[in-house]
Amino acid sequence: MPEKTARDITFVTCTAPVNIAVIKYWGKRDNDLILPVNSSLSVTLHQDQLKSTTTVACSAHFKEDRIWLNGKEENINQPRLQSCLKEIRRLVRKRRSDGDTSTDVLSLSHKVHICSENNFPTAAGLASSAAGYACLVYTLSRLLGVEGELSAIARQGSGSACRSMYGGFVQWHMGMQADGKDSVAEQVEPESHWPELRILILVVSAERKPVGSTAGMQTSVETSSLLKHRAQAVVSTRMDEMILAIRQRDFSTFGELTMRDSNQFHAICLDTYPPIFYLNDVSRRIISLVHRYNHHYRETRVAYTFDAGPNAVIYTLQQHVSEFVQVVTHFFPPETNGGEFLKGLPVGSVSLSDELTRAIGLEPLPKGISYIISTKSGPGPQTVEDTSLHLLGPDGLPKTST
Ligand code: DP6
Repeated sequence: MPEKTARDITFVTCTAPVNIAVIKYWGKRDNDLILPVNSSLSVTLHQDQLKSTTTVACSAHFKEDRIWLNGKEENINQPRLQSCLKEIRRLVRKRRSDGDTSTDVLSLSHKVHICSENNFPTAAGLASSAAGYACLVYTLSRLLGVEGELSAIARQGSGSACRSMYGGFVQWHMGMQADGKDSVAEQVEPESHWPELRILILVVSAERKPVGSTAGMQTSVETSSLLKHRAQAVVSTRMDEMILAIRQRDFSTFGELTMRDSNQFHAICLDTYPPIFYLNDVSRRIISLVHRYNHHYRETRVAYTFDAGPNAVIYTLQQHVSEFVQVVTHFFPPETNGGEFLKGLPVGSVSLSDELTRAIGLEPLPKGISYIISTKSGPGPQTVEDTSLHLLGPDGLPKTST
């Protein structure tokens, strides 16, 4: 329930997860509505390791809508933010005119203060916009008392954000309609469906990505014929196979499809003119490492995927995590005086056989990976009940700013 303070400010705080696609979204057919050229599918990561938190405050006394991101005030007039605000207010009006009295119409005329932060470094190149927009839309919906189809609103903040509105395994249906009403996310299976699935984020570089995904995919749509081929002839079949692999908890098929799809996305980047390079030497070494590891066992035990940056996301099963982390540590020896190399879920330690390291046979690259985050699949957005965790103080301004 929204909390009202003495100064007549209503507060709501929520959190939302990051998601990592195993069938990638790359390319829009409508830039304003953010409608994709193909459907995509992702795994929602657990919020214990990675999440966005947003507090929205609303009051008759606020003069204008304002937003602070990671402690810094940002321009509220950005078109994507405005789309989300406009769409959620439109949804409240519609519910109200349909006779739903639970929505809070009074707050509709009030201005909002929004404060949002991530518990992971934005500069690490992890998908922060997906969690951020999902969190914004979810928090606004709780404040205004609307339920229902929110993924189409989050989509208008950032395409991939629509998939962060659900936990577990989530498909974003590309839809057919020009107005985008059918371009929505849907949960394929909840996170409890495949509890053994583990995710390792290998943070390769803390630098910002050279070409943002919005600009990158636009150039790809304009210039890459491989992108058209993928949208017309690849994704639909691959999607069916992927959903079946998830339903059957068939890791080897899931892993192979994931790697093939990541590779095809990066092939499209190379087919874009001028080409876009997201992978670096460390990323390519990780790809070799994974293939050599799987080859040694004659089985797909680990799978990589890369988004618009050099970091690798590894999918594997619980029983292989400790050995694979040991392999990564062996071939990318960490900086000894740096912070902790392994963050997140605890990973047991094992010793590597000489046979395995010899079979992989790569030259170790010290400090190639800065750290690893170990996590699993988790639930969708959540409301934070503890009012002491609001990011905005009783005056409606951020409690902390940097
Ligand atoms: C490579 O959702 O960030 O991560 O819709 O322009 O905001 P916009 O793009 P965004 O693109 C994500 C691209 C990707 C693949 C994916 O998450 O499916």
